[in-house]
Amino acid sequence: MHPDVASVLLDEATIAAKVREMAARISADYRAQDLMVVGILKGGTIFCADLLRCITVNCTLDFMAISSYGAASKSTGVHRINLDLEGPLLGRNVLLVEDIVDTGLTLRFLKEYLMQRNPASLRVAVLLDKPSRRQVDVQVDYKGFEIPDEFVVGYGLDFASKYRNLPDICILKSEIYSGK
Ligand code: PRP
Repeated sequence: MHPDVASVLLDEATIAAKVREMAARISADYRAQDLMVVGILKGGTIFCADLLRCITVNCTLDFMAISSYGAASKSTGVHRINLDLEGPLLGRNVLLVEDIVDTGLTLRFLKEYLMQRNPASLRVAVLLDKPSRRQVDVQVDYKGFEIPDEFVVGYGLDFASKYRNLPDICILKSEIYSGK
């Protein structure tokens, strides 16, 4: 285990089983339809890549990168798009893929932004949900795990740009993020 990690919340095998289960549901729901998967950089990359490999319907892949204004660890609800999609969404079945929904502000922003481009449909797949942190109500169509309000890293999630490469989803030691 990484020395900065207090404990493993979700191990590699548990995550992999959930990702397969989510992909099976998605593949069944979109059978005989084309799907456009939109991954959100950077936290969602590993989940998106693993999910994509298990989806069996025809799909394309694109990415967006966004950042929120304000304090680094606090969502403000005001976002800047750092990388936008390459092509139009008109008439496409879009699946937005995110690693985590916390306050819900990012997801609400992204859904409103994508809906303005008139997709045929828009659904959301999120691996982790912290319901105790929610500030705005936002629908998630495919959800992996509900987790407690702990500082989690790994499997794409970072603290200060580190730990994204850890294969498990881990609870970070509090002295690492509190600086004490
Ligand atoms: C994380 C995550 C979501 C957002 C969720 O991104 O990937 O986009 O926070 O938080 P919210 O529900 O409170 O809005 P982060 O800003 O950490 O960027 P990253 O994906 O590049 O690590």
